[in-house]
Amino acid sequence: MLGVCYYPEHWPQAKWREDAARMKALGLTYVRIGEFAWSRFEPNPGTYDFGWFDAAIGILAEAGLKVVIGTPTATPPKWLIDRYPDILPVDPASGRVRGFGSRRHYDFSSQRYLAEALRITEALAQRYGAHAGVAGWQTDNELCCHDTTLSASTAARDAFRQWCRARYGDIDRLNQAWGNVFWSLEYRHFDEIELPVGAVTETSPAHRLAWRRFASDQVVAFHDAMCAAIRRHARDQFVTHNFIPMNETGVDNFALAAPLDFASYDNYPLGRADLAMADVPPEQFARYMRTGHPDFAAYLHDQTRGLTPSRRFWVMEQQPGPVNWARHNPRPAPGMVRLWSLEAFAHGATCVSYFRWRQAPFAQEQMHAGLLRPDSSEAEAWPEVAQLAGEIATLGLDSLASEQAQVAILTDPRAQWATEIERQGDSYDYDRIQRDWYIALRRLGVDVDFIAPDGEMTGYRLILAPSLPIMTDALAARLAGSGARLIFGPRSGAKTIDFTVPEALPPGPLRAMLPIRVLSVETLRPGCEGDILWGNGRYASRNWREYVDPGTADVLARYEDGAPAVLAAGNACYLASLSDDAFLQDFFAQQCAQAGVATVDLPDDVRISRRGHLMFAINYGAQAQPTPAPQGAQYLLGGPELAPRDVAIWEIAV
Ligand code: GAL
Repeated sequence: MLGVCYYPEHWPQAKWREDAARMKALGLTYVRIGEFAWSRFEPNPGTYDFGWFDAAIGILAEAGLKVVIGTPTATPPKWLIDRYPDILPVDPASGRVRGFGSRRHYDFSSQRYLAEALRITEALAQRYGAHAGVAGWQTDNELCCHDTTLSASTAARDAFRQWCRARYGDIDRLNQAWGNVFWSLEYRHFDEIELPVGAVTETSPAHRLAWRRFASDQVVAFHDAMCAAIRRHARDQFVTHNFIPMNETGVDNFALAAPLDFASYDNYPLGRADLAMADVPPEQFARYMRTGHPDFAAYLHDQTRGLTPSRRFWVMEQQPGPVNWARHNPRPAPGMVRLWSLEAFAHGATCVSYFRWRQAPFAQEQMHAGLLRPDSSEAEAWPEVAQLAGEIATLGLDSLASEQAQVAILTDPRAQWATEIERQGDSYDYDRIQRDWYIALRRLGVDVDFIAPDGEMTGYRLILAPSLPIMTDALAARLAGSGARLIFGPRSGAKTIDFTVPEALPPGPLRAMLPIRVLSVETLRPGCEGDILWGNGRYASRNWREYVDPGTADVLARYEDGAPAVLAAGNACYLASLSDDAFLQDFFAQQCAQAGVATVDLPDDVRISRRGHLMFAINYGAQAQPTPAPQGAQYLLGGPELAPRDVAIWEIAV
């Protein structure tokens, strides 16, 4: 299915009917509305006006479209903030209140805001929870976007004290767990606890980790209450949320997704490539400028698919042209809007919805493209969406099953928090490391699932943990019991749950399967690293290097000075260093072969993905390539030559 994000409140009512008819004619099914419209739903305190929304839903439904309602809680109106200014969050870095005037100006610890958010949500759910034209709900909008997870408000501090009391029970336990004897940081009561902000220099890492956990829990509690309010009235409608990635919000997206039917993701490949590749030299970046990187969108689709057991997801917002928020905002190359959409389906999407219907000629996003220009003429993406709508209908791409992959990456918000809190070397970047491992696998043609530490681990042939410092006995036992071949990156098992060095040295509980001891760690400036020697190859080790006592483990690769760099015991391998991409790719190819996972040699810009009985090949490049399909493949889309920025689909035996 395809959909679109629409803002009826931005346009005269006289346009709605024509808009709805054109959406239907284009082949769209879903229309998301309402997510920023609080000032129109409740223009004055307690006075609701749903008449205009009734009319909009009625018109869309009459045209044969299905509505998704976004709850408007990302934009509390002016009167609400004036009444209760303590709803506003406080910036932890500057200590300044983040004021009214844009969006997301609320504090997850404000009980007042929670009550108000539930009140407006429940009012909407009561009115539309049984409406035949409404298919489902989106909670809030991109929770925690614009760096809003952490707040240093009084409400947050008080709630953090409560959270600490519930977690540690008595203050001596907390002092012990956080190592507060260090620098005389001991507290006498929970009411003395400060947020770890505004201090002269470094605060205790355990304190900071507790704060990150707390902040994530606050967001989850806020969202759980909102889902419950919707579900009380909307029994037959789905509930989803449009996530942004965990590494940007610092929230445990697995926990956040728990009450949802499926997760959604907002896909802006060019904006993301511009930001994520800011340090890439122009001659290397130029080829991706109008396409995005061939693995970035897929990386986030695969993460979103893994958030709920449904194994499906939506793209709630798909970039249709230039955006307005990256450092530079180019136009997509011709064909890319269709390609990105097909790519989402290849990775398990059941709906791709474009942001937005018509470019707004006013306000903050007037430079952001839509499917229509401000004068209602068809913008560049329109014919691509029209073509795609036909292809999806013919091929039934949205209703294919999504199987479990053979390979999984274990991803953990606690790992991200721990490595951000204790970087040790400036260039250690959790998401970058995880993404590099993902890219190496995808270049080998391997489909990848993302799993949480408490997620299902059985059925995988290979599980990789690129960075997993916080390890418990239970997690180590589950990994060992998964039956999969395991590959751990450096830092795995390096910390206890309370951010201390494990008693018998890292890799802590992993020593049950990997009888090694990490004796010392060094981090090096980019460009000053040494080598990894493996087989006949010489590769670059990177900014993180560990020196390891191999115990009884096998040494598979060594540093240039002969010390062990990669170790293995039984089914598990341990990489004691970060490495270059070439090493990852060669090493993973060998490990996949040992685990019985087939790999393929793919051209640089071509990727393959399997969904159900179909195989997709996607060419991000500017040159045609041979489609990596077997001789005699039954093509449903494309053929043996894969055109630039095009997709081929063929059937496989299952
Ligand atoms: C998203 C957001 C939308 C809109 C869009 C512009 O992050 O959810 O409301 O701002 O970006 O690209």
